[in-house]
Amino acid sequence: MSEETSALHDSPGARLAALVERRWATVSVLILVVFVVVAAFAGIHQATMPQAQVETISPTRLHLGGEFVETNLGSAVEPDGAVTVRAVGQQYSFTPQCMIVPTDSLITFRVASPDVIHGFLIEGTNVNTMLVPGYVSTANVRFDKPGDHLMPCHEYCGVGHEGMWAKVRVIDRAEFLKMAETKPRLTCVE
Ligand code: CUA
Repeated sequence: MSEETSALHDSPGARLAALVERRWATVSVLILVVFVVVAAFAGIHQATMPQAQVETISPTRLHLGGEFVETNLGSAVEPDGAVTVRAVGQQYSFTPQCMIVPTDSLITFRVASPDVIHGFLIEGTNVNTMLVPGYVSTANVRFDKPGDHLMPCHEYCGVGHEGMWAKVRVIDRAEFLKMAETKPRLTCVE
């Protein structure tokens, strides 16, 4: 080191800068530690994990057969009383356009996309995921009171993106079960 640069390193300004940098490095490490602790707590204690199993599906054959054919879309009551809602999000709509579900029940949404990435979000709930072609997106939710929830696509998917949205209608469980007696798949599409 030349005399000039070593003089620079010993100047009060340089010492202050080194002190500030060390402090900031300590703060950064503390922030990282907090994140790791929060992630560990969420993962271990609350069992929130990246999806444990990934279900794949052929996006080009969705409509041809299997779970996501049009006649199988909508809400179905399972033997244990839970409800499964199957839907498809494509440019630029969701099918069904209006999904109907009961209050006080475990609702499982199973949604797939045949074309590009779409968003799947139900307002007023913590359901917020993406529909990625080739995969089945699932979300579990419970509703405790009747009402309508908007379901806008929130991933830019093309020129018609802003017009892509659907609705989830929550109705009383007894009323829902009565409707389900006569129809195996329910929607609120008029
Ligand atoms: Cu579909 Cu944006």
